Amino acid sequence: MASGMPIRGRRVALTPLAPSDLPWLVGWEADPEVTRFAGRRFRDTAEALAWWRAVQADPRRAALAIRTAAGRLIGDVELVEINWVRREAEVRIRIGDRAHRGQGLGRDALEAAARYAADLGLRQLFLRVDVRNVAALRCYRAAGFHRRARLRAGRRRAEGVVDMYLMVRLLPPAARERRAVHG
Ligand SMILES: CC(C)(COP(=O)(O)OP(=O)(O)OC[C@H]1O[C@@H](n2cnc3c(N)ncnc32)[C@H](O)[C@@H]1OP(=O)(O)O)[C@@H](O)C(=O)NCCC(=O)NCCS
Repeated sequence: MASGMPIRGRRVALTPLAPSDLPWLVGWEADPEVTRFAGRRFRDTAEALAWWRAVQADPRRAALAIRTAAGRLIGDVELVEINWVRREAEVRIRIGDRAHRGQGLGRDALEAAARYAADLGLRQLFLRVDVRNVAALRCYRAAGFHRRARLRAGRRRAEGVVDMYLMVRLLPPAARERRAVHG
């Protein structure tokens, strides 16, 4: 799942997520801005390690680190529920390091993730986003995702059930398919 690494964006690169990255992922969840919309995934590094091992063994999942040009880990992006028959997957992203939010890096990382997914042979990415998450909605629109549906009571949150938008983005053909067409 880690072929063709790193995937370079304009300002970030996607690399395989290593066990040594996991304490940062756990640390980001101390930030209520992360957990409010992205949820809490790990109580501690041991839980994160169990998740990481499960991802490595699962052909329907991929988890990548988002790094700056200087190599600093600032977020993570995941493909989940990869469906190799329908050639689609759900994408999840966090810019966990708050100092790096709102600078176009989330958009850049999503564009890089879309290239990664296309090169795996996928044709479509989708995501679900809390209707109140203005920053994420703008980021996803800027990265080429379009709203497809409003999911009523789509997710349970501390404050009750909330609506989510389902957003989709079609992917360009993978590099190998382009080569096959154009010779
Ligand atoms: C949502 C998230 C991934 C977006 O990444 P980001 O790097 O902060 O976003 P970008 O800077 O690439 O934003 C792109 C667009 O969103 C806008 N935006 C970014 N932060 C914003 C904010 N706080 N309020 C309003 N708009 C915002 C930018 O202005 C830009 O819009 P434009 O292209 O129209 O100018 C990131 O902020 C994050 O991880 N937040 C915390 C957890 C979370 O909400 N995860 C998503 C769960 S679905």
